[in-house]
Amino acid sequence: MTYECISVAREDRVGIVTLNRPKILNALNLQLVSELVHELERLDNDPDIGAILLTGGDKAFAAGADINEMAEASAIEIMKRDQFAVWDRISRISKPIVGAVSGFALGGGCELMMNCDIVIASETAVIGQPEIKLGVMPGAGGTQRLVRAVGLRKAMEMLLTGEPISAQEALRCGLVNRVVPVEAYFREALKLAKQIAAQPPLAVQVIKKAALKAEDLPLQDGMDYERNGFYLLLASEDRREGMQAFLEKRKPRFTGN
Ligand code: HXC
Repeated sequence: MTYECISVAREDRVGIVTLNRPKILNALNLQLVSELVHELERLDNDPDIGAILLTGGDKAFAAGADINEMAEASAIEIMKRDQFAVWDRISRISKPIVGAVSGFALGGGCELMMNCDIVIASETAVIGQPEIKLGVMPGAGGTQRLVRAVGLRKAMEMLLTGEPISAQEALRCGLVNRVVPVEAYFREALKLAKQIAAQPPLAVQVIKKAALKAEDLPLQDGMDYERNGFYLLLASEDRREGMQAFLEKRKPRFTGN
């Protein structure tokens, strides 16, 4: 499939996906989101890929859903598009997604960022959910994931004023992992993605899934879920290799089996 709204590249075991509609600040039209999901699922199924890096441009990660596409559409038309079904597939990607976020991450852009498992932000990042200013509200998880990420009070302020926060503030409230100069955010994120991509693939996926369950499950159910994953990994060849390599004081060679 050839893409018009994203570009793709690969470095070592990292699949790099770049949102690519710079003239309109990577506004997320239906085509972009469908290309993005297609590529994420392709990378998820590629055994040579261990982690995914998702980025935009220095000026904008993404300035939200494409307002041109929504402005004239009726509620029924938008409901029939069922555009959020495709967003739900992003949250089912099993490999870790590292976000490299610079400039505007607004509305759907912030929601997309929150679908990343780890986020490296540039100090120019401007992050928020401005939908209220358009008379609407977030539709791809903004009210739910933001509350989980930063707590009810902070989320409520952001959602009800529509005012964005700076990268430093996002760092303080746990919305991003690290803030670095704009020249460095992509490099830092790629380094991190490569580090994760070199880990045993099965353990990476089982850990990601278990950690995400912590947001949904009561503690004891989460603990039971974790334990099943723990036993499952004990059956893997990579577990044997990892422990053997430790005892033989050599580097492990993981195969994903
Ligand atoms: C369509 C957009 C856009 C968007 C920017 N542009 N954001 N087009 N949809 N979300 C376009 C502008 O129209 C303009 O096109 C060009 O990008 C550059 O933007 P400017 O406004 O000239 O740049 P600047 O003055 O730097 O302001 C940047 C900005 C502002 C603060 C990000 O563009 C802005 O407020 N954008 C809207 C942000 C927003 O409300 N997002 C939430 C959308 S709703 P031209 O042709 O004039 O050069 C949403 C719902 C999510 O996301 C539901 C789940 C999918």
